[in-house]
Amino acid sequence: MKHKKTILITGGAGFIGSHVVRLFVENYPNYHIYNLDSLTYAGNLENLEDVENKPNYSFLKVDITDERAINKLFDKYQFTSVIHLAAESHVDRSIEDPLAFVKTNVIGTMILLNAFKELWKDDYKNKLFYHISTDEVYGTLGETGLFTETTSYDPNSPYSASKASSDHFVRAYGETYGLPYVISNCSNNYGQNQFPEKLIPLFINNIIHNKPLPVYGDGNYTRDWLYVKDHAIAIDLIFHKGITGETYNIGGFNEWKNIDLINLLCEQMDIALNRPNGSSKKLITYVKDRPGHDLRYAIDASKIKEELGWQPSVTFQQGLKKTIEWYLNNEDWLQSVTSGTYQSYYDKQYN
Ligand code: NAD
Ligand code: TYD
Repeated sequence: MKHKKTILITGGAGFIGSHVVRLFVENYPNYHIYNLDSLTYAGNLENLEDVENKPNYSFLKVDITDERAINKLFDKYQFTSVIHLAAESHVDRSIEDPLAFVKTNVIGTMILLNAFKELWKDDYKNKLFYHISTDEVYGTLGETGLFTETTSYDPNSPYSASKASSDHFVRAYGETYGLPYVISNCSNNYGQNQFPEKLIPLFINNIIHNKPLPVYGDGNYTRDWLYVKDHAIAIDLIFHKGITGETYNIGGFNEWKNIDLINLLCEQMDIALNRPNGSSKKLITYVKDRPGHDLRYAIDASKIKEELGWQPSVTFQQGLKKTIEWYLNNEDWLQSVTSGTYQSYYDKQYN
């Protein structure tokens, strides 16, 4: 069968990437999906066991910062589009090792931009560089207001600064070389297959093992949470219907103060684990705050809603329930990712 599109998805073994890869492989049998990932601590091919034998799927173990390997690959596969998710993605790690974030998020993105510019050689018809970014590039909000697509960039962490930089380069390649691109900036994702270093899966794992729940500062920080499968659906829509050169904000219309979310999670975990009401809350431990901790993120997602007809398909209560069920039914997955590198990182971060 002739494949209509040859799509490169970078970072497809990670949390969000694996959901995007699955959605594209299953929904578009006439596209060929190349999942390119260097398999850092966050990349886990077990996430994609169910699609790995599909005829329209291939995995390429390559680092996006390896320019020679990338260029060789591009000659061979002649990709028609890319959905670029590969990144270092955890704020706390970026505080420990900012340069790793510059390497992958900035230089890696540059290497891909150059490779696509060369591959497509100014024949940009039916080509697309889709860059996946975060709302953290906008910096922090006070108690009110929302991030829109025109909010100025004002990143505060090495992670968000590296993502902001990569967004600027993508846009600059559009302006300077005419490279067709689209960018989306999404709020905090949660759901199955998220590495247990981010708030929700870390706390689920700690509750299972009766370990302390480290709440940074006073816990009064606000995030806007979106179920990962709804992010993948938004990415599909933007890939197919988004306007080239535009940015789309994606959010859950779902703001939670950390401590309120943690209390809800504790209550749901007590029910799911059949433990007495209040058991999980006893594990809450206030710890030293994250340096440069952004007070509040909240997305105005009206553009994608009005122009592309997208909105979240599940409520937070439904999404959180599905997430908890998944982690409890997949303790072997949790076990396999919480060994090795992760353990030493965990000790360094929390002990
Ligand atoms: P993740 O950390 O779970 O996965 C990142 C993936 O990229 C991993 O599979 C890793 O192996 C791969 N990778 C890292 N460095 C690489 C390199 N040099 N070469 C090739 N592959 C490499 O991240 P995630 O949470 O799935 O985030 C994916 C993207 O979405 C990122 O660009 C992130 O900035 C963005 N984003 C994430 C969130 C969120 O809440 N998680 C929200 C908005 C945007
Ligand atoms: P996180 O999941 O790391 O996402 P981000 O920093 O990208 O928003 O953190 C979400 C919120 O939870 C953030 O305000 C920091 C806080 N947090 C804790 O209080 N304790 C923790 O152990 C972690 C990982 C996060």
